[in-house]
Amino acid sequence: MITLFESDTHRNLMFNGFSSGGMIQANQHLIISNGEGMILDPGGHKIHTKLFAELSSIFNISKLKYLFFSHQDPDIVAATNAWLMMTDADAFLPAIWTRFVAHFGVDEMAAKRVTSIPDEGLTITLGGTDLKVIPAHYLHSSGNFQVYDPVSKILYTGDLGASPAAEYAAVEDFDAHVQYMEGFHKRYMPSTKAVKMWVNMVRGLSPDIIAPQHGAVFNTKALADRFVDWADSLTVGADALGDAYIVPN
Ligand SMILES: [Fe+2]
Ligand SMILES: [Fe+2]
Repeated sequence: MITLFESDTHRNLMFNGFSSGGMIQANQHLIISNGEGMILDPGGHKIHTKLFAELSSIFNISKLKYLFFSHQDPDIVAATNAWLMMTDADAFLPAIWTRFVAHFGVDEMAAKRVTSIPDEGLTITLGGTDLKVIPAHYLHSSGNFQVYDPVSKILYTGDLGASPAAEYAAVEDFDAHVQYMEGFHKRYMPSTKAVKMWVNMVRGLSPDIIAPQHGAVFNTKALADRFVDWADSLTVGADALGDAYIVPN
């Protein structure tokens, strides 16, 4: 467990060691504000078992108010039903994915506790803190949101900023870190336009920390700014594709 921010009333914790076997490494994030908690992108069943036990040891689990799902990938939503059944938390999920995630087996009673996030985003109030759920569509999913916490000034970017193969939890040397992000962003981010729209929005927010769902965090203002500048330089997805699809022999 890594503490990204801590004050008398507010804590931002990151769990990065629960992935195993063939799973892509994933971070799970917890925001605690005035005793109330929200988990971001909690992952699949094996992670659920470990994370639930860890949370119960550090935090009053009955105060887990919200589950946030940035998009529909299995490394995010696969254990949705277990989280809903074992906690009293309400869930937030991009509107365009609600009916798809139901295929993971979300019981009808539990499904009533899932709020669809409209395309324009919304505000979630956690322990008196207004967390901004901001649109980040096509970064990478077509219905995709990020969370900005105005108290810690952390922007949780989901798959944007991911470095799944980095073997450290925090970036120190940005230039040396680029190799762990380049291939992922070129292949998993579909649209250069979407990346540029994100850059413009995030320059206005000016976060102190950028915390992705995979790999290392950018936990100084200088590194967060470097990441935004790097994103601005990218050509990704369909824009980096060749000219033709070719049927294999
Ligand atoms: Fe994803
Ligand atoms: Fe992911």
